[in-house]
Amino acid sequence: MRDFLVAGNWKMNGSAAASAELTDGILAGMPQSDAVHLLICPPYPYLGELAQKLAGTALSLGAQNVSQHESGAYTGEVSAGMLREIGCEYVIVGHSERRAMMGESSEIVAAKFMAVLSEGLKPILCVGESLEEREAEQTAAVIDAQLNAVLDAAGAESFETAVIAYEPVWAIGTGRTASPEQAQDVHSHIRAALASRSEKMASAIQILYGGSVKGDNAVGLFTMPDIDGGLIGGASLKAADFLAIAAAAASLV
Ligand code: PGA
Repeated sequence: MRDFLVAGNWKMNGSAAASAELTDGILAGMPQSDAVHLLICPPYPYLGELAQKLAGTALSLGAQNVSQHESGAYTGEVSAGMLREIGCEYVIVGHSERRAMMGESSEIVAAKFMAVLSEGLKPILCVGESLEEREAEQTAAVIDAQLNAVLDAAGAESFETAVIAYEPVWAIGTGRTASPEQAQDVHSHIRAALASRSEKMASAIQILYGGSVKGDNAVGLFTMPDIDGGLIGGASLKAADFLAIAAAAASLV
């Protein structure tokens, strides 16, 4: 059985003080299971200080984004090497907010995925369809295109340390969660797509669900055979809410 990963995507929220307080709150209530891993992805400016706080704890640290470039004249960008140096273990790539608002194409996402791997960090590759795409029955095609862009560029073997997050755009921040069955359908599709390239990668990879996960819907989602945890936005901003989701995972191991 695969371990659970419960990851908090804090997005552009908080302050130095609030980040420290939230982290302390999470550390105080971590589930006591080796099969449930917790990860926080705070805004860039707080990563360095939080890395020091997390040293020696079981709580992992990740970034929400990264440049696809190694270094140079890219004003405002942050490289994977910088994130490694500061103590990050994971990096989210291809979040739908970045695809939609910052115009990140699947090719850029693939380049970011490879930049993360080149520094020995673990990419969390986000994929997901919009409401219009779902209604037009394009879900599988959209997911395949997003996934294949990375598989073609990086190769299936590169998914060894990667995580995939299925996040239907219509469920993000809307309070409208995919049903466990809807999510499972797409998760099993993703695993099968990966299996067509590498059975080994497909059976081992953690596929997270993201989109309005809360303490009261987490068990239903995490019970599904191909859902290995969650990427949590809104509910990751309060320690009690985030820990309730972690506890839901822990209740299933
Ligand atoms: P949400 O966000 O939990 O607030 O829906 C999830 C995400 O965007 O990763």
